[in-house]
Amino acid sequence: MAERWRRRAYNVAAMRALARAVLPRPVFDFADGAAEDESSLRANEAAFDDVSFLPMPLNGPAARDMSVDLFGERLSIPVLIGPTGLGGLFWPDGEREAARAAAAAGTAYCLSHGSVCTLEQLAETGAAPRWMQVFVYRDRAFTRELTERAQAAGYDALVLTIDNQLLGNRERDVRNGFAIPPRFSPLDLARMATKLPWLLRMRPEFSRLTFGNYVRPGANESLATLAGRMSQLLDPAMNWADVDEIRRLWRGPLILKGILHPAEAAHAVACGVDGVIVSNHGGRQLDGAAATLAALPGVVEAVAGRIPVLLDGGVRRGADVVRALCLGASACLIGRPQLWGVAVAGQAGVAHVLDIFRREIDRTMGLCGAARIADLGPHLLLSPRGPQCPISRSSTPMSISMTRSA
Ligand SMILES: Cc1cc2nc3c(=O)[nH]c(=O)nc-3n(C[C@H](O)[C@H](O)[C@H](O)COP(=O)(O)O)c2cc1C
Repeated sequence: MAERWRRRAYNVAAMRALARAVLPRPVFDFADGAAEDESSLRANEAAFDDVSFLPMPLNGPAARDMSVDLFGERLSIPVLIGPTGLGGLFWPDGEREAARAAAAAGTAYCLSHGSVCTLEQLAETGAAPRWMQVFVYRDRAFTRELTERAQAAGYDALVLTIDNQLLGNRERDVRNGFAIPPRFSPLDLARMATKLPWLLRMRPEFSRLTFGNYVRPGANESLATLAGRMSQLLDPAMNWADVDEIRRLWRGPLILKGILHPAEAAHAVACGVDGVIVSNHGGRQLDGAAATLAALPGVVEAVAGRIPVLLDGGVRRGADVVRALCLGASACLIGRPQLWGVAVAGQAGVAHVLDIFRREIDRTMGLCGAARIADLGPHLLLSPRGPQCPISRSSTPMSISMTRSA
């Protein structure tokens, strides 16, 4: 596709269409799909349409500053790359390509527990800020081990994902017989003429595809064995005592990912957690979980400005980011959009996706009359249909505090 993809990837939806064209169906569906009826995935995306802007163009922001301070780092845009397992399945060295793109764009990259490269190999790129995502495992010693390795490798923040305590039921993967490493019959290969560049690029990688962080030094475990073991590694009995223990262990910002309930958000603050990510895992875990944008106001209210609240799920436009920030988020993370970028052109594809967000956020802020992120607030939104939105409780725009937490 050479550089033609650049012209054709004029927005994130177009990048998704290009990714669909270049990836074998089971690989595309692994990233694109969600749990069961995929209702939470659809709800995540649709929730943004329910929130309309009330722009104030006569504020006349000649230029916009989109930078945000987050956990002591200045990010050039309020969009970070969220953790997505097996990034190296979409492009050789996919995670390191994406991390380099994030660093060049002035934002943070969060490495998944389930990356193909090890957390140390990612750190060798020097890409920063870099965050590491972990789970609570039945073998608590392994949770401690990953945390300590992340500390030693200079990660800037630790993300503890709490909504993956059981594996979600992703039916596209079941239907496609998704296997790792991918296996293709002669018939599949014959049907895959348009996927040939991916196959040629990835074929030499197949033997190296593994969950890098799980491989014990000297052990020769296949990815299939490790993937099979994953469900036994996770612990549905994890609880706040585990959060307390990780809090004691990790010296640096600790962020809980997968918060939807205001009570859990308030508890997180009480436990000394430094930030929460309002997330339903992109609809890949509990189908029917609330759309993240709909859950955001309740979490923002519970946290009451004490720690930053981030959001992911269905963020496809710069305007979606601006909507979330108006409702109290400090920044958004993207999952699938960066995988689509990496699938199309590796680092350049992710850089392109981040640039799309940058341009769209800038344009949306300019059209809304906001010069800085601190100018965004509920006064720029028409009260949405959602019953939880706090906007209706605000009186006039002038009475709304324009001060945002980080
Ligand atoms: C292919 C894929 C793999 C993912 N792997 C992880 C993971 O290892 N850890 C995690 O916390 N979240 C994981 N997620 C969830 C994302 O971090 C994020 O919550 C979600 O993708 C956000 O929704 P979006 O894809 O609509 O942007 C994964 C998502 C996808 C699409």
